[in-house]
Amino acid sequence: MDMEAPVLALVGFAREHFPADAQDRANMALKLDHCLRVFQEAETITTREGLSPNATRRSLWAALFHDVGRFPQYVAYKTFDDRKSTDHGRLGVRTLKRRSLLESLDEQDRKAVLTAVILHNKRFLPPDLPDQAAVPARVVRDADKLDIFQVMLEHLRPGAWNNPVVTLGLRDEPGVCTDALVDQILARKLGDYARMRTLNDFRLLLCSWAFDLNFPASRQAVQERGYLNELLDELPDLPKIRRVRETVLFALERK
Ligand SMILES: [Fe+2]
Repeated sequence: MDMEAPVLALVGFAREHFPADAQDRANMALKLDHCLRVFQEAETITTREGLSPNATRRSLWAALFHDVGRFPQYVAYKTFDDRKSTDHGRLGVRTLKRRSLLESLDEQDRKAVLTAVILHNKRFLPPDLPDQAAVPARVVRDADKLDIFQVMLEHLRPGAWNNPVVTLGLRDEPGVCTDALVDQILARKLGDYARMRTLNDFRLLLCSWAFDLNFPASRQAVQERGYLNELLDELPDLPKIRRVRETVLFALERK
């Protein structure tokens, strides 16, 4: 599938928003790289899952543009924290429309892409979503998670610089996990961003994504790359954390 034109459009749009300050520019470059890698992850998922050409085209466009709202968000608010600024999924949809970035797609494709973008950062997908929009939305959510695992692991490794823009200002308290998050995982539920207080809570939240991967290809990728084990190894050695480990590793292995 020829995706050169939309890739160049995204890169051009992002670069328009690059700020003068070096640290701000680095934060924004990180997001542009993320968009391009999520696009690649989506390519792998659609190929491995053998999705139809329609589903593949919609998924790839949605993956490429899923975080387009991040660029105007950072310019306006100097943060990627939606809680302190605005819903970047919604802002992404407004941006795509305002800038006519999906102009070359037909009406059905455009609708599916906009739906996937607005839903990519919601806690759950609505259960009644038609397949046309649901499949790209599921691909984007999985592809996004695959890349965030990688990015967060780089920032959560022992000795890594705790960049508050990436780790949302959470405190580094090695022995501390918030019980509410542990309980959510033990109940096989997705962790809640709003309950995070420490970096360990962020690790727990990432582990809970094992319950929310839509495609076998995505679970396989997490397993091959050892993301969960690496996160779990940084958590304190407590009985309840051992149960967390069993619960999430079991979820990942389910076919
Ligand atoms: Fe996002």
